[in-house]
Amino acid sequence: MPILNDKQVLLGVTGSIAAYKAADLASKLTQAGALVDVILTPSAEKFVSPMTFQSLTGRRAYTEADLWGSEAHVLHVGLGHSADLVVIAPCTANTLAKLAHGEADSLLAVAVLAARCPLLLAPAMESNMYTHPATQENLAKLIERGAYVAGPAEGHLASGQSGRGRMIETPELLGHIRLVLGQKGLLDAKKVVVTAGGTQEPLDPVRVLTNRSSGKQGYALAQAAIDAGAQVCLISTVNLPPPVGARVVEVHTAQEMLEAVLAESAAADALIMAAAVADFRPKKVAESKMKKKDGIPQVELEAAPDILEAVAGPDFGEKRPKAVVGFAAESRDLLVNATNKLQSKKLDIIAANDISASDAGFSVDTNRVTLLYADGRNEALPLMSKSEVAETIIARVAALLE
Ligand code: CTP
Repeated sequence: MPILNDKQVLLGVTGSIAAYKAADLASKLTQAGALVDVILTPSAEKFVSPMTFQSLTGRRAYTEADLWGSEAHVLHVGLGHSADLVVIAPCTANTLAKLAHGEADSLLAVAVLAARCPLLLAPAMESNMYTHPATQENLAKLIERGAYVAGPAEGHLASGQSGRGRMIETPELLGHIRLVLGQKGLLDAKKVVVTAGGTQEPLDPVRVLTNRSSGKQGYALAQAAIDAGAQVCLISTVNLPPPVGARVVEVHTAQEMLEAVLAESAAADALIMAAAVADFRPKKVAESKMKKKDGIPQVELEAAPDILEAVAGPDFGEKRPKAVVGFAAESRDLLVNATNKLQSKKLDIIAANDISASDAGFSVDTNRVTLLYADGRNEALPLMSKSEVAETIIARVAALLE
């Protein structure tokens, strides 16, 4: 994940049983290329040890003893100064109170006061403690000062009860971290619309005509756009966990997708049509389920609306986003067919992929695409993960919008 590569993340771990989840977070951040410095409060040390974090991050983990140790004069502010992001996960009611009041009585509290980077808090506590007006006031004060708060979630609590107070899980927390770090990126303040998945055209109340698109490439594009700081609207037919920060519009048919794309793109800077939209749909949708005893049905098809053609058409006119990207899924004559689509749909970029290859296209996690540009250039990308393809396309879109 380039967004996390070489980023200095200061991870504060405070005294909650959710401290064990912070170990997973430290590991995932490190795997993604971040340099993770961990500070454990004395109560966190009762749940997990500094050695846990040192083993996962390959870097020293700090404890309260370091506040008064031989390096104290540099450490107590240095950890805060060098951070690109401070994350406190789990963040207890006690730590929230300390931070809200600007206390400086621990290594973590001092580091937070010294830091000028964004602060992200992942609260974890018993639900009455969380909903208590004192905690809520402290949270409100911190948010007003610019802190970001992720969670807590509803569910089983260590008290045995169920309620709001669980620290959110690592993948979601990573999503919040990406959202915060992405701000002021190449697509800062830009609105990007991404479509994902295959459309479903009903035959009757239970059957649909669809295709094998998994939606993975579209979701990766939405995540890459968020990493670049964009406001993202993801128009999707699939039920994957969306990237944190994306606004999801759920659609099923080509017609629904057309309406959503036209509504969302009118004020957008970029539209990326990664969805596999039906070209044909049943002309009539049976009102009740087709029965076997009635014999094999003859299904007549009609053309479904072409969304990119509508965006390029005169009715949309001025509202067309500045950068429009399409995909061409081809099983033969890749470049010729993709060039025709680039021109007929008046695209700025088309990402052409050969779906007959086993390592590219539908369902798999990798893709091999050639980017063709309106000015005639083309760029053959090597086999990449769908995330890397997405990051490359987002960088090219950012260049178009400059
Ligand atoms: N597309 C669209 N509306 C459709 C069909 C496709 O907007 N009804 C978009 C796709 O999202 C993609 C691009 O057009 O970005 C090319 O899609 P593709 O299926 O490769 O091409 P088609 O135009 O449908 O042509 P064909 O299926 O004949 O290859």
